[in-house]
Amino acid sequence: MLGMISCSEDPFVDLGEIDDSLEILPPSNQRIGDPVKGREYLITGDYIDSGIPLDVFTNTIGRVAEANNHLNRSGVNTDIPYSYSAVTASNGVEVVAPNCLQCHGGYVNGDFILGLGDNAADYTLDQSLFAGQLDQLVTSLYSTDSPEWDAYFPFTRSIQATGKDLVTDVVGVNPANKLAFILAAHRDNQDLTWSDEELFPVPDELYPSDVPAWWLLKKKNTMFSAGIGRGDFAKIMMAASVLVVEDTIQAAEIDRNFVDVLAFINTLEAPKYPLAIDMNKALKGEMLFKDNCAKCHGTYGDNETYPNFLVHHDLIQTDPAVAQNDYSNEDFEQWYNVSWFGTGENAARVETTSGYIAPPLDGVWATAPYLHNGSVPTLDALLDSESRPTYWDKRLSSDTYDLELVGMDYIEQESKTSNYTYNTTLKGYGNQGHYFADHLSDNQRSDLIEYLKTL
Ligand code: HEC
Ligand code: HEC
Repeated sequence: MLGMISCSEDPFVDLGEIDDSLEILPPSNQRIGDPVKGREYLITGDYIDSGIPLDVFTNTIGRVAEANNHLNRSGVNTDIPYSYSAVTASNGVEVVAPNCLQCHGGYVNGDFILGLGDNAADYTLDQSLFAGQLDQLVTSLYSTDSPEWDAYFPFTRSIQATGKDLVTDVVGVNPANKLAFILAAHRDNQDLTWSDEELFPVPDELYPSDVPAWWLLKKKNTMFSAGIGRGDFAKIMMAASVLVVEDTIQAAEIDRNFVDVLAFINTLEAPKYPLAIDMNKALKGEMLFKDNCAKCHGTYGDNETYPNFLVHHDLIQTDPAVAQNDYSNEDFEQWYNVSWFGTGENAARVETTSGYIAPPLDGVWATAPYLHNGSVPTLDALLDSESRPTYWDKRLSSDTYDLELVGMDYIEQESKTSNYTYNTTLKGYGNQGHYFADHLSDNQRSDLIEYLKTL
């Protein structure tokens, strides 16, 4: 079987000849933290300490959302959805603020998984309209010179400044890159204080991301799909607090705690595929994987390896916009690399690249949709490019996951019919590239998918 594959008529890539297009990403030093403290800080900490006054929250968002206490939190947090935390603002007012699980927690087949990228979040609406309504509620209960308003203000200021520019074309993709640009543009890069004016121009376009699973980070030498996040990971991650951070004194305090958050993230493991796996097929699939995939994605099981390759656009051929436009934004790079984040002890930095990393595939069965922009609904479609749908709808009113084709349960459409239709013809939303399994037969592809379920 192995012979057949390497002699096949017209393989898309000869894995012996691709080295020019692969670049090894080097590791950087990381600080060592305490994972137990990190989990607690992540799900209850005040790294975002401006938000909706507690009673306003419980009467609006809190009441409609089913809290479920997935995180086993105590106290006030028991009744608050997992993606928010009740915290005390710097002036002592109790507020409810978004936490990292807004984007880094989600469901597979009805089960909640901390660290799974949320593939259901809806950014198709202008969030600043929602903030406007909240403003009215808050001011109807408290005046604008109340401590409650002061504790709420930095939060609404950021949502108003960003919301109208963060509208995505489809439910489920994430606008976090552009959010980061806009928030950075509103901050002095030395003391991190807010500026109403944008200090560098932010491009109009928004390119979507699929949020990667956190359990993959421990294998990676760089962060983000294009490998641009270098240096100290804790410092890169805590930048999410620029939503409301006051200054670098507060930022330094948050940064110290994020060393623990990183330690916690590095303890996360991929979830196991829940149904029976046909081990005969999986073994055949493993051979195919070693021949066609392992060079870039590494090996799994005993003695795992992971090469940390960046794969240049000429070879990977997936939609280049995120790497070429977003992640090559020179204004942002200049802002960042000489900023409080980019200098001093434990500095982080941004380095633009011309491709995407080949991610580790642990738990890949659970991380649909696929590719950096989430443009391909299932593994089956990823591994057979002809079968990838141009327009596809995530099935509404169902949280079922397709465990056979492995990925999102979807319906192919002829055109865009709603905010749930993924339109792969848009710039940044393209589903092309990664043609490395097209030469396999249907049986081989099915064996390979059986193997991928074991990772
Ligand atoms: C608004 C959504 C959003 C929020 C909130 C958010 N993230 Fe992310 N995060 C993303 C997206 C999107 C990516 C992937 C970007 C890419 O690779 O293009 C990402 C990437 C990451 C990664 C890198 C994963 C990798 O393998 O490269 C880590 C780690 C991470 N986020 C941690 C955090 C932490 C910690 C917080 C809270 C302080 C946070 N994020 C808040 C959307 C978010
Ligand atoms: C030349 C290097 C290379 C080879 C060979 C390769 N891949 Fe990939 N793979 C990548 C890169 C780079 C990405 C990310 C591309 C993107 O997101 O735009 C990727 C993405 C993926 C993803 C999507 C992961 C996710 O969570 O979105 C899967 C699944 C995958 N590859 C499986 C395979 C399989 C199976 C094979 C063998 C048939 C294979 N790859 C061969 C480089 C490679």
